[in-house]
Amino acid sequence: MTDTPPWWQTGIIYQIYPRSFQDSTGTGMGDLQGIRRRLSHVADLGVDAVWISPIYPSPMKDGGYDISDYTGIEPLFGTLADFDALVTDAHGLGLKVLLDFVPAHTSEAHPWFTESRASRGSARRDWYIWRDAAPGGGPPSNWLSEFGGPAWTWDPATSQYYLHIYAREQPALNWRNPAVAAAMLDVMATWYDRGVDGFRVDAVEHLAPDRLLRDNPANPDWTPADGPARALFRTFTSHQAEVFPHVAAMRRLAEAHGGRLLVGEAYGNLDEVMLYYGGALDGFQLPFNFHLIESDWSPRTIAAFAERYEALIPPGGWPNWVMGNHDRSRIASRIGPDRARVAQMLLLTLRGTPTLWQGDELGMVNEPVPDEMLRDPWAINNPGTGIGRDPVRIPIPWDDGPGRGFTAADPFLPLSTVASVEAQSGDPGSMLALVRALIALRRAEPALSRGSYTGLHADDAVLAYARDHEGRRLIVALNLGDRPQPLPAAGRPLLSTVPGRDLSAADGLLPHEGLILAA
Ligand code: GLC
Repeated sequence: MTDTPPWWQTGIIYQIYPRSFQDSTGTGMGDLQGIRRRLSHVADLGVDAVWISPIYPSPMKDGGYDISDYTGIEPLFGTLADFDALVTDAHGLGLKVLLDFVPAHTSEAHPWFTESRASRGSARRDWYIWRDAAPGGGPPSNWLSEFGGPAWTWDPATSQYYLHIYAREQPALNWRNPAVAAAMLDVMATWYDRGVDGFRVDAVEHLAPDRLLRDNPANPDWTPADGPARALFRTFTSHQAEVFPHVAAMRRLAEAHGGRLLVGEAYGNLDEVMLYYGGALDGFQLPFNFHLIESDWSPRTIAAFAERYEALIPPGGWPNWVMGNHDRSRIASRIGPDRARVAQMLLLTLRGTPTLWQGDELGMVNEPVPDEMLRDPWAINNPGTGIGRDPVRIPIPWDDGPGRGFTAADPFLPLSTVASVEAQSGDPGSMLALVRALIALRRAEPALSRGSYTGLHADDAVLAYARDHEGRRLIVALNLGDRPQPLPAAGRPLLSTVPGRDLSAADGLLPHEGLILAA
């Protein structure tokens, strides 16, 4: 008997950042009808699900991660009817739809916060985290905002500070108040009833900062390039024990709705990431693994990490890999365009669910964004540092017409310099062609999606591993270096990252070449 694994184990998730995907209304910013129009691109890639970054009403102080109504749609993006149509289309194309759930904070424009800040006696006062000034004056703790400056803002109306782990326009919700937890679970249920297949849960490590407000310790290795928030360890603000019962409650709700998927965003070390699987696998099915976003581009480092990750995942738990998102440098910029192709082969052949960041299938790079176009509060709060996420959120270049097919208006961020979807579609040597071929092979070969992982080789240049399933063994050999290398294992080459490569003559690895071989 062959068991059928849940879709999210064999599947691939594709992240859509709605502002940058496709404009259909002439605002210079993407929207839901735009996503609908371009869904065939996503389906043609061969992925299984889209995760759509926030689409809810928002003042857009943090790109929609500052939400003023959890169950509505931002008018810039469209209407609930547009959303329903998008879900119907996606499902018709065989794509699941995951939304972004942002539990740790609302926008300051959310009516809950308006009510909370109105008076100390407000019925919703305790929905947020309000504190008196420290005895000598000043903020109640030394905690820092992820975007720079203190995590506490003084509100003169009621003479108290409120907590915000991110921008001051993103007040932290108080999950210790059971009414908050209940209201937020209701939000999830509302979207399940509308047909969404799951959520990516945002910044969940911040859900329950220390109730005693103990100061975070200084990080002795900090340098300004790390960003101002990293000057302190997050000992008392992240991954607190009280987070996990809330994660378990989210999971129970997902199961009660027929097993929806929860993907958790929590940046931490591997031991911390493991906590989000839940002691009895009652946490997230997929706590994001960000190693490939952060790691040195070294075979030894990646191999050692994969071994440790595989060993730590609890029995019955499932791995996952991420190489880019709307918060981190594009992989092609971080490691160089030469290596971006072999990087896609790595992402799509490791054991575990890959999440593909929109545009990485085109080899998009970070683009410079002039100061007057900056949108990211992190960039705006830290001028002159080069910090910021706008360069990775550049609109998708669909064709080579005006606005690159993204918009008929002025785009909200500069346009990309890489070849368009249209141009790459007609070019068998393009990154897009490679990503499609990799995904097609992954779908055709259960060894790549479901197979076990065995590390075979790691030196300064070459990383190799085997994926086995029901007697079929595929070998992935990746040359991360810029010199030719011998093949570390024998096999019949099935796919190379090098355009035009004669597979019958592939008896070694070219510089920056990845090969998939049948053993
Ligand atoms: C997450 C999001 C990021 C956002 C932050 C606050 O890290 O990915 O874009 O700024 O949470 O919601």
